[in-house]
Amino acid sequence: MLEVKGLASYSPLGHLNEFRKDPLHFLSDLYNKHDTIVSFRFAHRKMNLLLEPALIKEVLVTKQNSFHKSKPFQEMKTLLGEGLLTSEDEVHMRQRRLMQPSFTKQHIQTYAEEMTMITEEFLCSWKDGEERLISRDMMELTLAIIVKTMFSMDMYQGHERVGKHLDIIMDIATKRIRSVLKAPLALHTPQNKSLTEAINAIDKVLYEMIEKRSDSNIKEDLLGVLMRARDEESGEGMTNQQLRDEAMTIFMAGHETTANTLSWCLYLLSQHPSKAERLYEEVDRVLGNRRANHDDMKELVYTQQIIWESIRLYPPAWLIGRKAIEDVRIGNYKIHKGETVLISPYIMQHSEKYFSNAEEFIPERFINGKVKDVPEYAFFPFGGGPRVCIGNHFAIMEATLVLATIAQQFTVELLQNQHKVEPEPFITLRPKSGLRMIVRKRR
Ligand code: HEM
Repeated sequence: MLEVKGLASYSPLGHLNEFRKDPLHFLSDLYNKHDTIVSFRFAHRKMNLLLEPALIKEVLVTKQNSFHKSKPFQEMKTLLGEGLLTSEDEVHMRQRRLMQPSFTKQHIQTYAEEMTMITEEFLCSWKDGEERLISRDMMELTLAIIVKTMFSMDMYQGHERVGKHLDIIMDIATKRIRSVLKAPLALHTPQNKSLTEAINAIDKVLYEMIEKRSDSNIKEDLLGVLMRARDEESGEGMTNQQLRDEAMTIFMAGHETTANTLSWCLYLLSQHPSKAERLYEEVDRVLGNRRANHDDMKELVYTQQIIWESIRLYPPAWLIGRKAIEDVRIGNYKIHKGETVLISPYIMQHSEKYFSNAEEFIPERFINGKVKDVPEYAFFPFGGGPRVCIGNHFAIMEATLVLATIAQQFTVELLQNQHKVEPEPFITLRPKSGLRMIVRKRR
C-alpha cells in the first residue's frame, strides 16, 4: 500500500488560506496537476482529495463503513441533532428506513400539483419588464414549496416563520465552518446569541406543528408520514425530538440546493438564447396555457436536459467530505484513521477527460439524466451509496415543474450592468452577490 503524496507547506495553517481564497480554483488546480489522489493540510488536519471515479466509489459505496461524515457535518449537529444528514451508523440506517418511503418516485408524484400551483401563485408577483433578484426569488419559492409539501404550512408564512431564521443560521454556520478558531457555542458571544435565537424560533414552529397534530389530524404530507412510520424491527415510531431533527434537516437540505439549481438554469438560459428558444418551444408544445402536472414529466425532456446540464456545471453540493474512522485502503493508497477524504462533484464534472467541451453548456449531452460513456462517479451531483441524497427525485421533479412554469410565462435576461456572474462556494454553490435579472412576460 502506498502513502498519499502530500503538497509541501511551511505555514502552520497549511493550505487553508489558499483554499479559502478561492476553493474552486484551488481544487481544480490540484486536479490538473495530479493523478488519482493528492493530500494537503488544513492546520494539523490531513485532507486527501480523490481524483478518480473508482476511488470515489470506494469511499461512498463499497468501503463506506470505514467513514463518517466530515467535521463540518459534525458541527451541524448543534442545529440538526440526529437528523438524516448528520446521524451515523445504526441511527442513520433506522432513520433512512423510516423516511425512504416518503421519497420514492411514486410518493413524490403526489406533490407535483402543489409545486406547480405554488409556482404560478408566486409568479403573480412578477411584473413585465421589472428587475428582480432572481436568486432570492428562487430561495423563497423553493422554501414555499418545501414548507407546503412537507409540512402543509402556508407558503406565505414560510419566509416569516422559517426562512428568515434559516438565513441567519446558514450565514453563521458558514462562518463557523470557515474559521479555524471559533467560540464554543456555550459562550455568550453576539454571534452565538443570534444562532441560538434563530434555532429556538424554528424549534418553536416545529414543536407546535408536531404537537397540534392529533392522530385524527394527520395529513399526507412528509410530517404525517413520519409520524405514522414504524420501524419494521422494533415497531417503534419517532419521538418528537427525532421528528424535529428530521424536519429541520429537510428545511436545511431541501430548499437552497434546488433554489441554486434554478438560478443557474435561468442564468445559463440568459447566456444561450438558442437553448432558451428550444425550451420555450417545448413548454408551448407540451403545456400550451395549462398547468404542468406530473404526467408532463416524460414530455418535458429538454427542460430536464437543461436541469441536468446546469447541475453538472454548477453542482450545488460542490464538495463532499468524509472522515476515516479506521485505517483503510482506497485504491492502492492508505488512508489513516482520523484523516479527511474530500470528493468534489465540481472538479469531476468539469473534467475534459469525461466531458467533451466540459466548460460549455450543452444540455443535449444528457439522455435520461446520463451522459454516454461517462463512468459512474464522474457525474454524481447527488452523492452515492447509502447516503445518496434522499431528495433527488423530489429535486428533479420540482426543478422541472418550476422551470417549465417560469418558461411558460416569462423570458429572463441579465441586467446590462450586472457584474460577472461567478459561482461562490458557500455551503452550497451559489451565484456570487446574487443574480439580478429583468423578467418579461411572454404572453
Ligand atoms: C438539486 C438539489 C439537490 C442536490 C444537488 C442535493 C445533493 C445532495 C448530496 C450530494 C447529498 C449527499 C451528501 C453526502 O454524501 O455527504 C445529499 C444528501 C441529502 N439530501 Fe440532498 N440535494 C438536493 C436536494 C434535496 C432535497 C430537495 C431534499 C429534501 C426534500 C434533500 C435532502 C437530503 C437529505 C436528507 C440528505 C442526507 C441523506 C442521508 O445522509 O441519508 N436534498 N444531497
